[in-house]
Amino acid sequence: MSPYKAFQISDSVFWVGAKDVGRRLFDALIPLPRGTSYNSYLVLGRDQVALVDTVNPGFENDLIERVSSVIDPRDLNYVIMNHAEPDHAGAIPLVLKTSSNAKLVTTPTGARMAKIFYSISNDRIHVVRDGDSIDLNGKTLKFLETPMLHWPETMFTYLMEDGVLFPCDFFGSHIAQGMWDDEVDDLLIHAQRYFGEIMMPFRISALNALKKISSLNIRMIAPSHGPIYRNPGKIIESYWRWASGETREKVVILYVSMWRYTESVVKVLVDELQSWGVSTVVHDVAAADLGDIAKDLVDSRAIVVATPTVIANAHPLAVHVAYLAGLLKAPAKYAALVILYAWSSVADKQLIEILKDTKVELIGVVKINVTPSKNDIESLKNLAKELSMKIMGRKQ
Ligand code: FEO
Repeated sequence: MSPYKAFQISDSVFWVGAKDVGRRLFDALIPLPRGTSYNSYLVLGRDQVALVDTVNPGFENDLIERVSSVIDPRDLNYVIMNHAEPDHAGAIPLVLKTSSNAKLVTTPTGARMAKIFYSISNDRIHVVRDGDSIDLNGKTLKFLETPMLHWPETMFTYLMEDGVLFPCDFFGSHIAQGMWDDEVDDLLIHAQRYFGEIMMPFRISALNALKKISSLNIRMIAPSHGPIYRNPGKIIESYWRWASGETREKVVILYVSMWRYTESVVKVLVDELQSWGVSTVVHDVAAADLGDIAKDLVDSRAIVVATPTVIANAHPLAVHVAYLAGLLKAPAKYAALVILYAWSSVADKQLIEILKDTKVELIGVVKINVTPSKNDIESLKNLAKELSMKIMGRKQ
């Protein structure tokens, strides 16, 4: 007997996905301290059945066995591909082979990607456009095109009768534990990490999607990573804030230190910023989890990069994290640099060049020759004051 079973989440929907408890890295970049899940859903009409998204390669057996606990997996009518990335679409070739009459449902761009990634032929693809629907006889799936969340083909599927939204990556979180939102105490933190890692660069697309779903009666959000929201209000409200680029009176300080000289200077800066009432979050980049940094970039109004000098340049990890902040399009408005050096350094010029494509206003650069002099401490205090005034919208 199969150990894997489906889990019913509404009148006509079963979770048939996989939990990847042991996965520790995504995109060869982002740590997954709590694993992740690949959520797939079976939607039953009176005599038609659809599978919404599939699972990561290697978890096909979990999927097929869970589907088998509800229906014969050869009897699928539709396989909905909300997103072509392999963590959700990797099992599509096997599913279409098993269900030889099933059609793959996707956007026009999704159809092209299904061919490129999975060699799916045209005769197996049913292309849908924004607002189209499929009647499973008693249950209606409506499709909403939501491009660039975070690939060009992305769409949402909405089960009208049950009020269930299947948004794939959107509203997702990398966490393997918990089936429901209210079973995970720190879910919002994981959702914010996920937003920072995946959706933050696409905030305009995210706002468009939020507007598009605002008139729907959403009783449940069933994303393709992490728990299902049976209380969707809070995550929708959070997404409006994050997608709008709403920041807090908060500075994220990203530092690298080889001999603790940079770290000791960062402590002075933190004290000063705190004395002005600004919230600070400090990450030692060499030890930090990039997901935590991404989370803090979501709502920080300013970024400080502090680095020692290595062969006249910024430490490679400082370069990496400054590049990442720009790549992820952090909504911060202000930035500052603290550079430590012993004999010569172009680290400031290098980091300014990296940050030049971001929207941040550079408030100041403090360069310190190993140990801060009295003047350096004054410069740090002035930098903290100027940054704080900007962050709090006050005039000096
Ligand atoms: Fe979870 Fe963009 O795939």
